Amino acid sequence: MQRAAALVRRGCCPRTLGPWGRSQSSAAAEASAVLKVRPERSRRERILTLESMNPQVKAVEYAVRGPIVLKAGEIELELQRGIKKPFTEVIRANIGDAQAMGQQPITFLRQVMALCTYPNLLDSPSFPEDAKKRARRILQACGGNSLGSYSASQGVNCIREDVAAYITRRDGGVPADPDNIYLTTGASDGISTILKILVSGGGKSRTGVMIPIPQYPLYSAVISELDAIQVNYYLDEDNCWALNVNELRRALQQAKEHCNPKVLCIINPGNPTGQVQSRKCIEDVIHFAWEEKLFLLADEVYQDNVYSPDCKFHSFKKVLYEMGPEYSSNVELASFHSTSKGYMGECGYRGGYMEVINLHPEIKGQLVKLLSVRLCPPVSGQAAMDIVVNPPVPGEESFEQFSREKESVLGNLAKKAKLTEDMFNQVPGIHCNPLMGAMYAFPRIFIPAKAMEAAQAHKMAPDMFYCMKLLEETGICVVPGSGFGQREGTYHFRMTILPPVEKLKTVLQKVKDFHIKFLEKYA
Ligand SMILES: Cc1ncc(COP(=O)(O)O)c(C=O)c1O
Repeated sequence: MQRAAALVRRGCCPRTLGPWGRSQSSAAAEASAVLKVRPERSRRERILTLESMNPQVKAVEYAVRGPIVLKAGEIELELQRGIKKPFTEVIRANIGDAQAMGQQPITFLRQVMALCTYPNLLDSPSFPEDAKKRARRILQACGGNSLGSYSASQGVNCIREDVAAYITRRDGGVPADPDNIYLTTGASDGISTILKILVSGGGKSRTGVMIPIPQYPLYSAVISELDAIQVNYYLDEDNCWALNVNELRRALQQAKEHCNPKVLCIINPGNPTGQVQSRKCIEDVIHFAWEEKLFLLADEVYQDNVYSPDCKFHSFKKVLYEMGPEYSSNVELASFHSTSKGYMGECGYRGGYMEVINLHPEIKGQLVKLLSVRLCPPVSGQAAMDIVVNPPVPGEESFEQFSREKESVLGNLAKKAKLTEDMFNQVPGIHCNPLMGAMYAFPRIFIPAKAMEAAQAHKMAPDMFYCMKLLEETGICVVPGSGFGQREGTYHFRMTILPPVEKLKTVLQKVKDFHIKFLEKYA
């Protein structure tokens, strides 16, 4: 066990292999695997070692499931074995996985999924007719009328049509073409696929990808994997994490000295920062992209998660069209949505879509070729995406229950966003910007000089040290700000607001008590 722990600390294979790509619920199993590492028998030197492996993959980091989560898994095992702690459970507030935190699935979505998965249920009187109608339509579009068959690589045709109809409705009539819709394995897959096509060149002409700081670490991870150049632009914390075009300009000019910046990524509403961009800001960004010839990636997976009454979600696509033909027929844009967030929280289905605008026809061919290598996204995920874009409408049997459930989830998230902001701002040494959207708080924390020294002695970043202590003393698992990027000398952590209200209140109270004690201890 000690050896395993030492390996973890040194960053050897169990740590490196541990968290990547594993499900949240298998975290305890992960920790158990780490603890069971056996001494090696003498054997031939391995072909695949840390030295010989793909250095780009080795460089990948993904804080949301990083060492702190591994530690949380170890602590859970210790609790199971009866080891006494100052708490009785680990609360995983590290990842935006709503149903893992107790959110109930939307009934209609699950009814359609059940019918699609087991079509014999289409004869059952327990399912409403509107759910059966959706399921029949999806099944008719599947090979052999079965969810178990491969689909076209771009996705099931009628689902792409439903996505296009949804976008047109959402954007007040701006047309969307099903041919520009690609169904994906969650938004992550769409983002990494389009980046794969975009990145080229060597030396100073290597593609630079502009990403916000703080960012969602998928971006830095994919950039590392592709050996592209990460170009940071900083969001303005003093101004509720707003995106400032002057900062984009600064980052771009600086980047041009060592790479070829050609992609600009925007996350709106923001993760981890929770800001919702104003229409004016989006217009400025589009103008900037047009002027500087940048390919825009708009990550809009939180488009349903807007809480502040004075904020509204504006899609990049809509604003682009409203800016007139000079922009709408020139700016290249890919935007992304997902089944994972919003009010549905169906992360496990791995459903998503990407809409591309002004993509060169030959590149569309290349994109389909690339997608076809992986055959198709999960057809169950595509079906889940269909229900998200084609929910019950007024007059349909399930409309009332669907609306009630949707409003309840979003209403609760709005309450929890306000509660979190208010509670954090009562704590000396914590400052939290308003959580306008998404599902996270990213408060700034003051870390005293003595705590920084202690962190250094443990060879940890100060915010990692803080988060480890928080986990060890309270059982609350949050992610250090360094995993998302932050201005030098500032420290943060990211916490989801997904626990149920009463549990969230307890979590916030515990963070508050911990923080006050931490300040006293290292004063
Ligand atoms: C901003 C952002 N983009 C993309 C994703 C990935 O979502 P998906 O589950 O659809 O791959 C997430 C997940 O948390 C996210 O926060």
